[in-house]
Amino acid sequence: MCGITGYIGFREAYPVIINGLQRLEYRGYDSAGIMLYDGNQIQLAKTKGKVSNLVEIAKSDISTSGVVGIGHTRWATHGVPNDVNSHPHLSQSGNLVIVHNGIIENYDAIKKELITRGYTFKSDTDTEVLVNLIEEIKTKENVKLGKAVQIALNQVVGAYAIAVFDKEKPDEIVVAKLGSPIAIGVGKDFKEFFIASDASPFIEYTKDAIYLEDEEMAIIKKGREVNVRKIKSDKLVDSNIQELQLNLEQIEKGGYEHFMLKEIHEQPRAITDTFRGRLLRDEGIIKMAGVEDNMKKFLNANRIIIVACGTSWHAGLVAEYIFEEFARIPVEVEYASEFRYRNPVITEKDVVIAISQSGETADTLAAIKLAKKRGAFVFGVCNVVGSSIARETHAGAYTHAGPEIGVASTKAFTTQITVLSLMALRLARAKGTMSSSDYRMHLQELELIPRKVEQLLNVDGHVKEIAKEYLLSTNCLYLGRGYNFPVALEGALKLKEISYIHAEGYPAAEMKHGPIALIDDRMPVIVIATSKGHYEKVVSNIQEIKSRKGKIIAVVTEGDTTVKEIADHTIEIPEVEEAFSPLLTTIPLQLLSYHIAVMRNCNVDQPRNLAKSVTVE
Ligand code: G6P
Repeated sequence: MCGITGYIGFREAYPVIINGLQRLEYRGYDSAGIMLYDGNQIQLAKTKGKVSNLVEIAKSDISTSGVVGIGHTRWATHGVPNDVNSHPHLSQSGNLVIVHNGIIENYDAIKKELITRGYTFKSDTDTEVLVNLIEEIKTKENVKLGKAVQIALNQVVGAYAIAVFDKEKPDEIVVAKLGSPIAIGVGKDFKEFFIASDASPFIEYTKDAIYLEDEEMAIIKKGREVNVRKIKSDKLVDSNIQELQLNLEQIEKGGYEHFMLKEIHEQPRAITDTFRGRLLRDEGIIKMAGVEDNMKKFLNANRIIIVACGTSWHAGLVAEYIFEEFARIPVEVEYASEFRYRNPVITEKDVVIAISQSGETADTLAAIKLAKKRGAFVFGVCNVVGSSIARETHAGAYTHAGPEIGVASTKAFTTQITVLSLMALRLARAKGTMSSSDYRMHLQELELIPRKVEQLLNVDGHVKEIAKEYLLSTNCLYLGRGYNFPVALEGALKLKEISYIHAEGYPAAEMKHGPIALIDDRMPVIVIATSKGHYEKVVSNIQEIKSRKGKIIAVVTEGDTTVKEIADHTIEIPEVEEAFSPLLTTIPLQLLSYHIAVMRNCNVDQPRNLAKSVTVE
């Protein structure tokens, strides 16, 4: 987590960096800071809170002119979020300045050693230790900044994306990466460079970017090509300049009040983009290069293990139902954070599917590395093109949802399910576990989903009315069965994340094994009761809630009459094949959380304590 950014060139660096930090706030927003070099002195401003607070402070505290600078937005790991712990951090002499995303695990031992050499520390951060270690090496070994950074990084254990500035060499910035992402935007004729955790801060300035790989560093100098080298061996590597596909419109709110609402409404488009070129209904085929090229691996797999975190894990749970039903391949779904540490049994006959919106989640990345080490074939389902997970996996399929900026995941979830459904169908066909008529019917059904989502989004006003009645609730229960059990989990997660109301998701039938004790006339229960999914059983569960005076909000199929008579509120979804129903049932739950959160005055796009990209374990 944390976002870092930097600029060196001919423009005023301040607006470039501040704007960039605002775009990176999804990575953390506990505190923010900026360093500018005005040609003479280092100007440093940093503060607890958001980038907007930083802007206020910077106005009065520093001169904001200068053509070189670095900035940071923080998600606290070591040290509480306060002004002192905010980045950038200065070295003891005040000459070196650093911003860091990651964790230096052996910082304590290094700090003790540096204290014996006379260093004192102002903050509780691991980052201040790193900048002083660099300074100590630079002075003691009498080397330039780049070399000192390299030596220091060979001594630290942990993860980092860093940008370091030296007042004595103000025409360069040194960057390095291990475990956390870093992109370098390359300006025309190398006259300017942008540094950022992802490309969004510099998209309006250049489409050319270099993504550093793990254990690589670069010394960035105006007017010169970027030399990328290995931190360990010092070997120069090809600095592969890629053309960015991102555009400015994709990362702006486009008239919506919040990114989350925009992203909810983008789902018909996002799902269509995810199909594009893959679902060829007229030809009756699904084409996915990553699957075709590795078909043998999938067909010979003893089982599929899905690893993911958060919302992506919920998409994995939906996929478990779909893969087992369609392709008859046993599936296990694991929290990446548990999987990586429990010595799992993995063999060469296992296929591991890693799901991640950001492609940067540290636990998912570590789970992939473990699975690879043990010989499994690893397939990635990521949204962010070129992300660490996309690069680390043997093959994969992108979700094409476009940038997701709201911290609570919405369109990433539905497009993950879309990719996984396409995969399951393709494998079912290849294995012969689905008849060709069924296969064609499913292709048609899937292709209709974007239109149905579009139609379903019209329930927004109705859901908003329902939200008004429950905005003061303190607890909420979400129930679903089969394909919609994971949707219940996801609905509860959305509400928790953005409205801070405690919510639990349960398989509907499990309600009587505990949660039923919680039901009284103040407990809203959201039940997914679509017509094809164990409908009668879910109706019985609804009756059980009603007899205990619980308030029922039911998601039903249009035309339903039975549940309508019992429930306090119903939200209708279009008729849909049960296996694809999560793509619809999840939409009203996203809207419900959204409206409740807005009415409770919560920060929908940047909920407290959370971050979009969790690059620490
Ligand atoms: C964070 C985000 C969630 C996301 C999870 C996994 O917790 O706030 O929205 O589901 O990380 O992220 P990933 O990028 O791997 O899907």
